[in-house]
Amino acid sequence: MDTSRRGFIRVLGTGAAIGAAGTMLGGCWDMPDRAVEGWSGPAADLQDPRVKALAFAILAPNPHNRQAWSVDLSHSGEILLHVDRTRLLPETDPFSRQIMIGHGTFIELLAMAAAAQGQRADVTLFPEGSFAAETVDARPVASVRMTRDDSVRRDPLFDQVLKRRTNREAFAERSLSAAHVAGLAPAVAGGRVRLAMASEAEPVAFLRRIAEEAWDIEIMTPRTFQESIDVTRIGAAEIGRHRDGISVTGFMPWFGKAVGMVTPESMLDPSSMGFRIGLEMGRTHARSAAAFAWLTTAGNDRVDQVEAGRAYVRLHLQATALGIAFHPMSQALQEYPEMQTAQQRLLETLRVPHGETMQMLVRLGYAEAPGPSPRRPLQTFLRA
Ligand SMILES: Cc1cc2nc3c(=O)[nH]c(=O)nc-3n(C[C@H](O)[C@H](O)[C@H](O)COP(=O)(O)O)c2cc1C
Repeated sequence: MDTSRRGFIRVLGTGAAIGAAGTMLGGCWDMPDRAVEGWSGPAADLQDPRVKALAFAILAPNPHNRQAWSVDLSHSGEILLHVDRTRLLPETDPFSRQIMIGHGTFIELLAMAAAAQGQRADVTLFPEGSFAAETVDARPVASVRMTRDDSVRRDPLFDQVLKRRTNREAFAERSLSAAHVAGLAPAVAGGRVRLAMASEAEPVAFLRRIAEEAWDIEIMTPRTFQESIDVTRIGAAEIGRHRDGISVTGFMPWFGKAVGMVTPESMLDPSSMGFRIGLEMGRTHARSAAAFAWLTTAGNDRVDQVEAGRAYVRLHLQATALGIAFHPMSQALQEYPEMQTAQQRLLETLRVPHGETMQMLVRLGYAEAPGPSPRRPLQTFLRA
């Protein structure tokens, strides 16, 4: 028998063995159902309208899916939202700007979910004073008072909350339609957050390049990449244990981890397969963007950041309603020193006025919607 034929049979044999093992181990590399149960909506037995609203708020998009929220329900009719400071991202988000954006997304969904129950949500940001520019502290980010009010209208975007997904697929080679560009704009009308978009070939090509460059910088800077690796959860057991962070499903990563080929150390090693796959994945994301959207604020105080989060999730919900795949690429906006040259070029090329802050940068396009990302159980967000 010639060697190629022998090789072919060996491959077939391996394939069959993997197939048999797959049947036996089925589910080990998939997203566990429990981890995503929140996406079916609140449990039927929840009585407190605040807790019902929270069941939607914890589905908010948030950086690295750290879910850095902590909620105090000890005052009747009020929700006090705090930062869970054990869940910050000090390397990639040194001033917790993105963590604050992830609080804005939470507050916006909370207010929408309250309205859907006929409850008015009066939001007071930083009721005990704002945080300093560099740090977050123990004071609340927001007080949300909920009151029955029959004049409150359900927000049409609320219908998209359970369907919204951050989409990390490679997007189709297809421009974003003019109708879709126009259809996104109303989601961020008025207020202190400004939306801009690029869908023409030249600015899109520039933004693809800069997003790719920023990805390369982040992944090649060991301490910033380490931060992602630390919260990467591979396979059903690990995802189910944490229900947060960056979830990796699929047979190959699970198998690599099971046989010790994929380890936190190997993922950081530029010569490893895992590292090269990660590098290429981010580059593919950038290169397949059909268009980009970005949100800016004139200042960059804590209220600007929270309001950027509120606008961001509205934009994402609107994209969901329109069938647009939506994926933030935040690397270029991050504040650590190695990123500053690329960031300056980004801001200058897009003519962002000096002093304004680009809070979010998102690639847009078309792709099949992925499954939902995990959330921790609702009660783990409640302070004792
Ligand atoms: C401030 C902020 C920055 C984010 N940056 C990125 C990013 O750079 N890359 C990415 O893949 N997702 C990014 N995301 C999306 C989160 O990772 C995502 O919301 C989280 O994993 C939960 O997934 P979901 O949005 O599908 O519920 C960001 C989200 C927020 C709010």
